[in-house]
Amino acid sequence: MADFVKIGTKAELPADGEAKEFEVNGTTICIAQVDGSYAAMENMCCHRGGPLGQGVVLDGKVICPWHGWGFDPKTGASDQDISMGVKVYPIKIEGDDVLVELP
Ligand code: FES
Repeated sequence: MADFVKIGTKAELPADGEAKEFEVNGTTICIAQVDGSYAAMENMCCHRGGPLGQGVVLDGKVICPWHGWGFDPKTGASDQDISMGVKVYPIKIEGDDVLVELP
């Protein structure tokens, strides 16, 4: 059963238009702020494993730093190959805590 787990605090969240890596339960996830909303997604790009949390946000998509694939922050769908994508996770803020629901 999935649980919300704390991944950090509000102060640690990326600025608008940026992505960042967070470690939680031995896994790295990507948090991005896209147009004022936060998104949590798998950090490992489905193309060749690039770190999405080290990427950037462009035109509403999280862009992988290795070869530039773009991912929808809400669905995880890839722009380059519609049959591929990354997992996205529910994210919420409670007080100062940032919580992500991981499988
Ligand atoms: S590894 Fe992400 S675009 Fe190639």
